[in-house]
Amino acid sequence: MDLPNYLRKKRGKLELKKGKKWITWNPYHSKLAAYLLGSGENWPFTRESKVLYLGAAEGNTVNFLSNICIEGRIIAIDISRISMIELVTLAEKKRNIIPFLGDAHFPEKYRNHAGNPDILYQDIAQADQVNIFVRNYKYFKPKYGFLMIKSHSISGKESEVYSETKKILKQNFDVVKVTNISKWAKGHNAYYIE
Ligand SMILES: C[S@@+](CC[C@H](N)C(=O)[O-])C[C@H]1O[C@@H](n2cnc3c(N)ncnc32)[C@H](O)[C@@H]1O
Repeated sequence: MDLPNYLRKKRGKLELKKGKKWITWNPYHSKLAAYLLGSGENWPFTRESKVLYLGAAEGNTVNFLSNICIEGRIIAIDISRISMIELVTLAEKKRNIIPFLGDAHFPEKYRNHAGNPDILYQDIAQADQVNIFVRNYKYFKPKYGFLMIKSHSISGKESEVYSETKKILKQNFDVVKVTNISKWAKGHNAYYIE
């Protein structure tokens, strides 16, 4: 995939154009940057995209997405009160981030905030992370999804976790594409869904 003109690869890292400057998007800190460097083939994010982001943490990747989806919005969910403090501080500086303290097991709780997202993005290291993703996707019915799987959070051998994840996703979605991002995020695969 050709990168959009606001992204470029430089010295093994990714850079994002912000105004006239290029800022580093570190793949070791963001699995979405790792996905692009790992030759991920799908990039549905546009200026207007509405993204429901599960597992926002302090907002590192959310911040980059807010620069990309400049006229859209990022609804950023996290269960951690400590992470939420930084996320709220970030949201105060950006006009398109909506932080929400909540548990991704319960999509009905953030339904009013999320509205109709175009893209579901999930990065949650939990044993039932695949089920959380499927539940949210079916609930909100976005067009596209990204699931970052941490194999070590699920019991079993890494290869078995990945094949079981693919099996469940294929049972539920028409398009499932896998990108290995373990070079930057140990024990992780990225799944693109339609
Ligand atoms: C690996 S971190 C996310 C990093 C972030 N995506 C980034 O790129 O900057 C995983 C996050 O998932 C959150 N989390 C874990 N279980 C959750 C749940 N059930 N609902 C919402 N967030 C959860 C954790 O609090 C943690 O902040």
